[in-house]
Amino acid sequence: MKLLNKISVEDKNLLNYEDALVALTKEIPDYKNPKAFMQVPFDEAFLKDALKLREEMVTEDLKYIVVVGIGGSNLGTRAIYDALFGFFDSIEPDRFPKILFLETTNPQQLSKITDFLESIKHPAQVIINVISKSGKTLETVSNMEVLLGNVPYAKDRLVITTMENSPLHEEAERMKVRTLTIPSGVGGRYSVFTSVGLFPLACTKVNLPKLLEGAMKASHNNIAQQTAYFIYQMYKKGKDIHDLFVFEPELESLGQWYEQLMAESLGKDGKGITPTTSVGSVDLHSEAQLDVGGPKDKMFTFVWSDYAKIEKFKNDQKAGNVKRAILESAMKMFRNHEIPIMEIEFDGINELEIGEFMQTKMIEVALLGKLMGVNPFNQPNVEEYKVEAKKILGK
Ligand code: PA5
Repeated sequence: MKLLNKISVEDKNLLNYEDALVALTKEIPDYKNPKAFMQVPFDEAFLKDALKLREEMVTEDLKYIVVVGIGGSNLGTRAIYDALFGFFDSIEPDRFPKILFLETTNPQQLSKITDFLESIKHPAQVIINVISKSGKTLETVSNMEVLLGNVPYAKDRLVITTMENSPLHEEAERMKVRTLTIPSGVGGRYSVFTSVGLFPLACTKVNLPKLLEGAMKASHNNIAQQTAYFIYQMYKKGKDIHDLFVFEPELESLGQWYEQLMAESLGKDGKGITPTTSVGSVDLHSEAQLDVGGPKDKMFTFVWSDYAKIEKFKNDQKAGNVKRAILESAMKMFRNHEIPIMEIEFDGINELEIGEFMQTKMIEVALLGKLMGVNPFNQPNVEEYKVEAKKILGK
């Protein structure tokens, strides 16, 4: 992963804070500290737990992993899965295992997914992974109950990933089902490299060591300090919308993951940066008119990978040239209109690059929290709606 802009960071406090975060990677993790997200990729325990459970549950028969979770409990996994496999699921119907994501309490989807799972006669084909750090998120708990009530083998193929001593943890012990632990200090949106993401991804063909290697690179690539600095300078100039313009459609879910990370981490105390995602070149035919001709309240990060990385097109200049021309003309147009852009090039869409991008963005957002004077690790208003919803249900 390369940041192509030259951004010189003129803020000693920012650099010192990044040094302090990076120094944590040399220490024994303290998982009560929210900054421990820095240590997660270096801690082999999560990988070991995921692989051990994979050994126990995954055979050649496995076809579907149903991930039941929402927000930080599933967006990271979805970002990685979609980038590597999920975007192509409909044109590769015979490639297994696939991950199915159950997030909201949508009755149509629930009805279809329970019918589908009921029709599977061989339980080894399915794993159900319910993920909730707090162990009390309404959507997740309610969806788990629907699966347990309708799918005969659900309990036998269930794994619950949650924090120790959460209500869901107690429930898992009562039901005697398999559990994986989420450390209490690591926030949901910073947790993709814990058991939250590693177990479901371990059940697919994702190369986890490469993913974690990429994440570890983020601690010394010096990219987060530059992007955080750039974003903050633009924010101070009144540009409070940041758009991740992904020029590879399979990265759209990565954009959604980053949206949650930025929105939930920084949107507080009357401050915040609104994150959006555009997909190239689709949104050149949709959003770009507004981006360029509309209010000057936005900044952009373009992200792309090269055609040359796709084996089939290695010697085919034409496909690559068309894409390159579109990308370059778009960036030129933005620059001509003095719209601030950053440019990130991936060395292929693979585990190493995605791991590095995600951990870099987690560091960037932590640095932005420092610059903006907000706590990037809490989400008081998300908790507020959860409590209200439970009150309405009399829970
Ligand atoms: O990042 C966060 O903390 C939130 O988005 C949570 O991940 C989300 O609300 C789901 O919470 P939980 O994992 O407790 O079910």
